Amino acid sequence: MMDLQRVNEYMSQVEESEKKVLPHGKRLKTGLDLGTAFIVLVVLDENDQPVACEKQAASVLRDGVVVDYSGACRIVRELKEKLEQRLGEELIDCAIAMPAGTESSVRTHQYVAESAGFEVTNILDEPTAANAIYQISDGVVVDIGGGTTGLAIFHDGKVVQIEDEPTGGTHLSLVLAGNYHVTFAEAEAIKQDYARHKEILPVVRPVIEKMATIVKKYVNPAEIDTIYLCGGTTCLTGIEGIFEKVTGIRTIKPANPFLVTPAGIAKNCILSER
Ligand SMILES: Nc1ncnc2c1ncn2[C@@H]1O[C@H](COP(=O)(O)OP(=O)(O)OP(=O)(O)O)[C@@H](O)[C@H]1O
Ligand SMILES: [Mg+2]
Repeated sequence: MMDLQRVNEYMSQVEESEKKVLPHGKRLKTGLDLGTAFIVLVVLDENDQPVACEKQAASVLRDGVVVDYSGACRIVRELKEKLEQRLGEELIDCAIAMPAGTESSVRTHQYVAESAGFEVTNILDEPTAANAIYQISDGVVVDIGGGTTGLAIFHDGKVVQIEDEPTGGTHLSLVLAGNYHVTFAEAEAIKQDYARHKEILPVVRPVIEKMATIVKKYVNPAEIDTIYLCGGTTCLTGIEGIFEKVTGIRTIKPANPFLVTPAGIAKNCILSER
């Protein structure tokens, strides 16, 4: 079982580190999450204590693949400079992560990080990164971002299967834009307003059922007793109920599931000898 209280406390520190630099040790680890909807940099110290974090909405990737290379490089460089200014020191060691099934574009992600001045010291898959925070030994971690639904099945602490399919938060926004006759940007704003979650849930329910069906397809309820959610889209109030209904499996998420994967990437940054 995941220690929900520990995860909630840790993630609230990561959230706090967006606003101010937290007290920290000497050596700094960075995690770069190049996402379809957001690019996030999380900085931890050598004891994995959250230090600082910056994020930027961006559409430089599609389905986990970089489609705007120079845009991606520019944003990562800007975020890195912002962090370095806040910290008063240079960030060097960095880990990156890939969605399952996009291993062929590892080099592109690595070049983006390197173009910003990072040394990439570790490369992992995204759901494994998320589980560095959750630390479950059995169950399935489901990361629903802007573009995709990724999942990793764990047995005895090891990943036994990873999958990634192109249904994510962007699809929810498209449905909302159609339903309310508003632009995509306006739909995004509606979706991210917690006060409207109750109202929009019935509208987006079919898309969430589709996401849950993706998970159901890969998961055997006889073997898996819990689904652990993360990723920006799982901020949606009530999403876990729909997952439970479709899959018949208990579904859990922390208070803020948004920065779990980027924090887990940072945790996996290997500090080089310098
Ligand atoms: N409070 C919220 N309620 C609902 N959805 C939200 C909320 N905050 C963010 N989102 C959605 O989360 C998505 C972004 O999540 P995340 O940052 O995990 O994705 P990503 O890593 O960029 O994408 P991917 O993993 O698919 O490449 C967007 O679709 C955004 O609209
Ligand atoms: Mg993501």
